[in-house]
Amino acid sequence: MSIKNICCIGAGYVGGPTMTMIAAQCADIIVNVVDINEKRIAAWNDSNTDNIPIYEPGLSELVKKTRGKNLFFSTEVDQAIQDADMIFISVNTPTKTYGVGKGMAADLKYIELCARQIAAVATTDKIIVEKSTLPVRTAEALKRILDNTGNGVNFDILSNPEFLAEGTAVSDLLNPDRVLIGGEETDRGRLAQQALVDVYSNWVPKEQILTTNVWSSELSKLTANAFLAQRVSSINALSELCEVTEADVNEVARAIGADSRIGSKFLKASVGFGGSCFQKDILNLVYISKSYGLHEVADYWEQVIIMNDHQKRRFARKIVQTLFNTVSGKKITLLGWAFKKDTNDTRESAAIYVADYLLSEQAELVIYDPKVTEEQVYSDLDYLGTRSEGENRRLVKVLNSPYEAMDKAHAIAVLTEWDEFKTLNWNDIFDSMLKPAFLFDGRSVLDHKKLNAIGFDNYVIGKGPC
Ligand code: NAD
Ligand code: UDX
Repeated sequence: MSIKNICCIGAGYVGGPTMTMIAAQCADIIVNVVDINEKRIAAWNDSNTDNIPIYEPGLSELVKKTRGKNLFFSTEVDQAIQDADMIFISVNTPTKTYGVGKGMAADLKYIELCARQIAAVATTDKIIVEKSTLPVRTAEALKRILDNTGNGVNFDILSNPEFLAEGTAVSDLLNPDRVLIGGEETDRGRLAQQALVDVYSNWVPKEQILTTNVWSSELSKLTANAFLAQRVSSINALSELCEVTEADVNEVARAIGADSRIGSKFLKASVGFGGSCFQKDILNLVYISKSYGLHEVADYWEQVIIMNDHQKRRFARKIVQTLFNTVSGKKITLLGWAFKKDTNDTRESAAIYVADYLLSEQAELVIYDPKVTEEQVYSDLDYLGTRSEGENRRLVKVLNSPYEAMDKAHAIAVLTEWDEFKTLNWNDIFDSMLKPAFLFDGRSVLDHKKLNAIGFDNYVIGKGPC
């Protein structure tokens, strides 16, 4: 079967870039990306593609090339479902905030709503692709909803989890390490799987397209994120040990990463991993393990989160301790609010938690991030619910100039590894700060020998005072 028309439900960080790449690589496929969020769709359709809702290097140019040719963004969900041969479900699957599994299980209400809408609207056979990250065996529930509430048409379900990382989405999509497609082990299932293999084969080498059964594919996605996050927690655990033993975590990472069995990636100590995926997916893995009665398995993975929470708290506590155990009324500048560089996404950013800790100690915060808006910073702090909206606006300022943000500050904390922080004029910054001038680097991105020579008192994760 040759796919001619694709619909993607969900125009977020995954749906938007993924479908843009499919449209760019498959000129003969019409791709409709639909979403219920009108503001988001309007931004995807903005005549100036620099205003698309997601910042990713190279994405705006790719949207410019394809939008209006074979790539369309719209809120007409029913129409797009009807027209499609293949429907990707790429909606959010956040951690549940209510009921059974609160704080752990994935909330599948948006997935279920999509399934019900597809079932109600579809009048021809469809291949349904799980693009969202889902608990293992979700396809079973999806199939039941589709078959029992549908109009008697056939639905074949595939699992095709997305492995892109934010900040590098375009290059990850263009040159993926692998594409994973899980399908049912039936004749129809194999045909559906082949149809999606054919789509990706337009640009991905065949040997990098892995096919498995649906359950392996669903579980592999949760597990891949858990393994990556585990490496970050492992190196962060070592960073604390380094700080008390005068070992340097960067040197340790280089030494262990040179072992080809370990590998050099994901060994960068930090103030803690953030992003919308790692914590949510591990919590989900823990929940699934517990629900099968596998308590040791659950405890093993939960430790990755415990370590991450510890690292964020430890960094914030270190700032307070260094500033003579009181930050009340002191101005502390946070450089970076996004959860990593080259994205405007702030979900689960370590910066939010460090800020919350410092605000509880009544610090006055000034925030600078190259891509995050003032509105977003306030919304992240308000969402925590620790203090009133008025108080957040009284204690926190968000500025567009890093120099203005650091003027007369007692301390600076680097929370995101944006490249531009390396090339700031640190001599001028030092001169404008209150003395002693403290610099806390949670991402170890700056040249601390140079900064020390200027006069800064530095504290670097995994090295300590230097
Ligand atoms: P997102 O919140 O950025 O986007 C999801 C979109 O779905 C939102 O715009 C929302 O309005 C829309 N939506 C929800 N319900 C809808 C419905 N019934 N009809 C139409 N639109 C609807 O989320 P995301 O970051 O793109 O993540 C989507 C999924 O992909 C999640 O399961 C996530 O775990 C997974 N994932 C994310 C990443 C990542 O880097 N963000 C990477 C791999 C996998
Ligand atoms: C992750 C997975 O990498 C990706 O495959 C999956 O599809 C979605 O989740 P993402 O969250 O976008 O991607 O970014 P990633 O590069 O994995 O970083 C996650 C967090 O870990 C960031 O806060 C990052 O700063 C941190 N990190 C990463 C470290 O602290 N140290 C490292 O060595 C690597």
